[in-house]
Amino acid sequence: MCGIIGYLGKKNAADEVFCGLQRLEYRGYDSAGAAVLSADGKISVVKKQGRVDNLKPYLKDIAGATGIGHTRWATHGKPSDANAHPHVAGGIALVHNGIIENYAELKSALEACGETFLSETDSEVIAKLLSKNFKGDLICALAETVKVLKGSYALMAICEGNNSIAVAKYRSSVILGYGENEYFCASDEPALAGKCKEICVLDDGDIACITPDGIEIYNGNLQRIIREKKPNTGAEQSLDLGGYPHYMLKELHEIPVAVENTAKAFEGVSAKLKSALNGVDRIILVGCGTAYHAGLAGKRYFEQFARVPAECDTAGEFRYKNPVITERTAVFAVSQSGETADTVEAARLARGLGAKVIAVTNVLNSALTRIADVTVPVSAGPEICVAATKSYIGQITALYLCAVGFAKNGSNGNCAFADGLEAMPKLCKKTLAQVNTYSLANMCALSSGVYFLGRDIDYAVALEGSLKLKEVSYIHSEGYPAGELKHGTLALIDENAVAVALIFDETLAGKTVCAVEQVLSRGGKAAVITNVESVKKALSGRALVLETCACGKFLSPLVSAIAVQKLAYETAVILGRDPDKPRNLAKSVTVE
Ligand code: AGP
Repeated sequence: MCGIIGYLGKKNAADEVFCGLQRLEYRGYDSAGAAVLSADGKISVVKKQGRVDNLKPYLKDIAGATGIGHTRWATHGKPSDANAHPHVAGGIALVHNGIIENYAELKSALEACGETFLSETDSEVIAKLLSKNFKGDLICALAETVKVLKGSYALMAICEGNNSIAVAKYRSSVILGYGENEYFCASDEPALAGKCKEICVLDDGDIACITPDGIEIYNGNLQRIIREKKPNTGAEQSLDLGGYPHYMLKELHEIPVAVENTAKAFEGVSAKLKSALNGVDRIILVGCGTAYHAGLAGKRYFEQFARVPAECDTAGEFRYKNPVITERTAVFAVSQSGETADTVEAARLARGLGAKVIAVTNVLNSALTRIADVTVPVSAGPEICVAATKSYIGQITALYLCAVGFAKNGSNGNCAFADGLEAMPKLCKKTLAQVNTYSLANMCALSSGVYFLGRDIDYAVALEGSLKLKEVSYIHSEGYPAGELKHGTLALIDENAVAVALIFDETLAGKTVCAVEQVLSRGGKAAVITNVESVKKALSGRALVLETCACGKFLSPLVSAIAVQKLAYETAVILGRDPDKPRNLAKSVTVE
């Protein structure tokens, strides 16, 4: 799950590749590298451990108008200069996104033939194979090479003495870009936004050859095929921080607009969704990480508004549990990027088993949307921070609307709950301005562990609060159903632990307050984030009470999530972490 980019044209390829890598950096930032083909047909390579910016000083040393680049999220081999891409073998330089599952056996076979390796990566094996198969035609060598690869790959290669880029794709995405006398290839559409007039999405098994004369696309047998070109409408992603110190804070402030735009965009798809869900009697929601947590809220919406059985699984679990699916099942695949490997494969599996597949995603034209029957847009706008904030709230908004729409069409529906979304952008704005998480952030920063508690829909947000905090601050954290704490985890509570209870349902408030009391009586520190008046009265003076504005229970995740996201951000900043690029992570997880 790395980002790869290629450029062939008349400009300085190193600059174009660098610009693409900056846009792709959210896919990994363990190392970055570029290879450029000079006018006299020689390849020069620079690669450095760490972030894309580390490459900048070295790019002036590589001149040419054709190049490829890579930003890495390490899978095989630690982050290091040696493991950075491009990998070079013979006169060929290669970048790879994906995982080669049979690399160990391929490597052993190559070693038995006397090959030696400079890196611990699976990708260098592909470079060696390419070089071995090269008999003067890079595309033929690539077609030969991919025949023996098992796993996923998006590959770009350049070869000394040949002004072209060879591209191959299987289960990792590749987009081609057509400009004025210049061509691009990249891992995703946002990387090409504003760069070219038309784009084309490659399919699994496609091989492409980019030359100064244009782009030819072939199938695995090197027969020419046509792929549809479409206008490149992607809005150029601004890397401007807009005066904020971090993207995470900027994106938190974009939440009200994300809610508003997601609601507007839903109007455009509601009829199509209605017809797709006609006759559906079971809902399954799948996603990973934050998107899974949005699915947990969505499950409650479908159950409560439409009284339809709903389940929510992490996409990785769903894929391997032999799920029960009929043609009356609808699977909602939730993903900010639309590229998360497990979510995309879960959607593919569900579709294959006859389910209706609904993509809920922030990236139109992503792999997920190509599998889905219907795409429900999350119009949160580009999210650069690795930690999902506005996209999570956009996902919840979209799922809320889907469930309301489904309930209105069914006979058992109860839409009495489902009011008030119009007011939410304003309430989100108010929450951002008013909820004061700073004291709690200081408490968390000093703690040995933070336990987020909630019941029902508050529990779904508690899980997300915990993920967000651990992701950006590196403090141990867990999310628990408030009633479960006493069944084991209470043993971890001492004066260094902090419990954060989310209480947004008046009818359940008393029960969750009991859990807070259990923490306090064991010497733990406690805080509540709530809009329930009685909770304030019960706990003031003994627990830190963070008040938020009043709103209905089912829309409360939009408010409570802002509070926990802000808490995570402030804790990270207090601890001197970079919330935008947490260690070990990447935003788009395109490997399994
Ligand atoms: C959350 O902050 C993380 N970035 C992560 O859990 C993320 O939500 C997950 O990897 C799924 O990504 P997706 O929404 O792009 O599919």
